[in-house]
Amino acid sequence: MRTDDGALRGRRILVAASGSIAAVKTPLLVSGLVQAGAEVRCLLTPSAEHLVSPVAMATLSRHRCYRDQDQWDPGRSRPLHIELAEWAELMVVAPLSATTLGRWSLGLADGLLASTLLACERPVLAAAAMNTAMWKHPAVQANWQSIQRLPGVIPLSPTAGLLACDRHGDGRMADPIQIELAAAVLFSRHEGELSIDRSWLGRRLLVSAGSTLESIDQARLISNRSSGRMGVLLAQVARVRGAEVELIHGPLQVPQAWLEGLDCESVESADQMQQALHRRQEQASALAMVAAVADLRRSGGGLLSKPPKSDLPQLLEQGWEPVPDLLEGLVNRRPPGQRILGFAALTGSDEELLLRGGEKRLRKGCDLLMVNPIDRVGEGFGEDNASGWLLGDGLQQRVPLTSKLALAHDLLDALAEGLATPTSC
Ligand code: CTP
Repeated sequence: MRTDDGALRGRRILVAASGSIAAVKTPLLVSGLVQAGAEVRCLLTPSAEHLVSPVAMATLSRHRCYRDQDQWDPGRSRPLHIELAEWAELMVVAPLSATTLGRWSLGLADGLLASTLLACERPVLAAAAMNTAMWKHPAVQANWQSIQRLPGVIPLSPTAGLLACDRHGDGRMADPIQIELAAAVLFSRHEGELSIDRSWLGRRLLVSAGSTLESIDQARLISNRSSGRMGVLLAQVARVRGAEVELIHGPLQVPQAWLEGLDCESVESADQMQQALHRRQEQASALAMVAAVADLRRSGGGLLSKPPKSDLPQLLEQGWEPVPDLLEGLVNRRPPGQRILGFAALTGSDEELLLRGGEKRLRKGCDLLMVNPIDRVGEGFGEDNASGWLLGDGLQQRVPLTSKLALAHDLLDALAEGLATPTSC
């Protein structure tokens, strides 16, 4: 499953791998980008060539793979590193090794990748990967901070796990699916315009996503059809735009790799979701309540074992109460300046959506409410696209059918309006 919203179709992406064992995963990234419709060129450093075959990269990208010896080909009329840097709309360095990072931050141009990085004036997605001790080394950390100050660099920090050196810790390259998603985020704003917007740097976004579950008995559940796609994509777009993102989620139907880079807490019931949100609300600059909270729960507590199904009709007739409105509670206890976005999945005509959405926003008190229909083909739960209305104080904005990634950009723009200027950027 991928973001099949067309954001990468026809885009020119240069994928470069340097010498980390994570380079064995770079062909998967190339394959994913090509399947998403991107035009891909590949570049390997001499160290990466020990780990991954140029033939694999060439085959998967449908184009020759460039190596250091190609840089000084006498048959070339223009330097290869300039050609590649100018050709690419986006450059992806995956994996970014400690050596290539060091060269880049010092401005050294020895080798095809190092010189292409210096010549590149387009955004660069940098997915670092190395042994934990190397990653934690103050010199590497200083270099990592230094490249983040360059315009257009989007850092994808390594994730934690078992490394090829048998150590557990930070150092794994971001999953190729995650890197592909980050590329799609960059290309998804306003009809494919490439965005290097880092306006959420220094801000913290708290997001809820997915469904919640309430028990009928020890085996049976009440829930809903939410896949969590919109909430997780909103969280990832905010992350790529620089935010610290915390995600409280119920069951999700999205690739596990889409959760990378987010501070995630998994919950089941509305009660658990409420506790998690309350615990984290104070620190957040903004909150997006995208979760589809289940509507009913058993009153009185205590779980029935598992009555036979013949008893269910009678059981379902009594002993239920509405789940309290989490959003309303969050609005009432928010710290000064915190902006809150709610979602409303509704059915009916545009007039009905506007009427019920408007009432709902006033009742819940959130700054913004994205009202989206879930009874139209190709949009809503689990789909790539959404449409509807964005409502706020004096705001009634029609949202035409658009990808959930592009919608996430627009919602973050609207949410950022009126937020205090971040302190740390
Ligand atoms: N919401 C919530 N707590 C609930 C129900 C909904 O916080 N118990 C939030 C959702 O996360 C969403 C917004 O309220 O941001 C609107 O959700 P919706 O399901 O449309 O709200 P309901 O109040 O359940 O609406 P309805 O009465 O139409 O079912």
